[in-house]
Amino acid sequence: MPVSEYIVDDREMPRFRVNRKTMTDGEVFARERELIFNHSWLYIGHETELRKPNDFKTRTVAGRPLIFAKDAKGKVRVWVNSCPHRGAMLCRESGGNARFMTCFYHGWSFSSSGDLVSVPGDDGYGPDFERPSLAAPAKVDSYRGFVFVSFDPGIVDLPTHLAGAKDLLDLVCDQSEAGMRILEGTHEYSVKANWKLLVENSVDGYHAVSTHQRYFEMMTAAHGGFAPTALGQSRGIDLGNGHVAIAGEPSTGGLFGRPLSEAGKAEKTERFDRFREKYGDAWVDRMGGARNMVIFPNLVVIDLVMGVVVRRIEPLAPDCMEVTAWHLAPPEEGEELHKQRLDNFLTFWGPGGLASPDDVEALETCQRSYAAQRELPWSDVSRGMSRSAPTGSDEFQMRTWWRRWNELITGEKLPPEEHAPLDGVHTGNRQSPDHATAQ
Ligand code: FES
Ligand SMILES: [Fe+2]
Repeated sequence: MPVSEYIVDDREMPRFRVNRKTMTDGEVFARERELIFNHSWLYIGHETELRKPNDFKTRTVAGRPLIFAKDAKGKVRVWVNSCPHRGAMLCRESGGNARFMTCFYHGWSFSSSGDLVSVPGDDGYGPDFERPSLAAPAKVDSYRGFVFVSFDPGIVDLPTHLAGAKDLLDLVCDQSEAGMRILEGTHEYSVKANWKLLVENSVDGYHAVSTHQRYFEMMTAAHGGFAPTALGQSRGIDLGNGHVAIAGEPSTGGLFGRPLSEAGKAEKTERFDRFREKYGDAWVDRMGGARNMVIFPNLVVIDLVMGVVVRRIEPLAPDCMEVTAWHLAPPEEGEELHKQRLDNFLTFWGPGGLASPDDVEALETCQRSYAAQRELPWSDVSRGMSRSAPTGSDEFQMRTWWRRWNELITGEKLPPEEHAPLDGVHTGNRQSPDHATAQ
């Protein structure tokens, strides 16, 4: 069995270390592109971002420029954003609505279902000339509105790939009777750090109180001065195939978000009471706890109940990533709850808010300090290895993600850690399983 030069997974001590080369090395970056991004399911966007037929958004996924669109019949399509003639980008806007996509270079024009419909100076081509259509990724599929693409025609189907992450996505999606929707507007920012640092950070309960001290102070004051709820009640979770999460009990989300008025609280309780009837108490109790998940390799969904962020991480270079974040919300919410949700999104997650800039600073200093990796080659990710039930403030979820990363990069498959099975609120199931595949 090959032994990874990137990870030391010592079960005796126990100790888990990650080599900092994984964050800086150009060759590792190239291997990730080939062995992970070219052979995984990758999130491109949410169906609800495309509201009308012929709506489109342009996105870069694993370095490829893509068009995420609805055709004239309302079917979700993904195209390569390059003209089959000589390559110019067909759509240079971030989004819009267009029945035809006309290339600005020589004027070839394509329908929203990808067919070449007009060519200036058509007589320059012979009668048997085969008109090229737009190119597309090998696979496109969606789960409850989340649309993924894959560049690997032989990849396993999306539900199999998502494994246990489906359950957590269901907990997020079931929070609306009308169907959760992505709100207009995105947060876009770049971070001068390796993309995997943000993956780790997105399921890192350990840093919350120290890195985001100011936010918690502000929330404590807003809630009349009660002390932060211990984050230790949450669990680190292995969802299979490298997908991981931390999930809390209902009380652990208590300090995220500003307090609601009595009317706001009543509206929320009423909605959750309707869910109780529909899904049963066990599922709704679980729904009320916060959860952060990473869908391998680079999709993050953070549901702190006061707000849900969908975050996509696009690696640009070993020391640079681009982050796009959207807000997923139940459209039926009243004015106060909606306003509060937007406020939470901006003040906690916004690029100028009280959390994200702290995280960016932490990650960028990690990256800068990796210049001294000859003197200090290893990072430590051991927290919670010896605990029977690792919490959301431990690093079990990161190790689980890293083991999948390591398996794909080196071929070395390390056994999963053995811990006590999930219990209590974390095992709640939905009462009517017929919703499980609802789109
Ligand atoms: S490159 Fe698009 S028409 Fe020539
Ligand atoms: Fe953070």
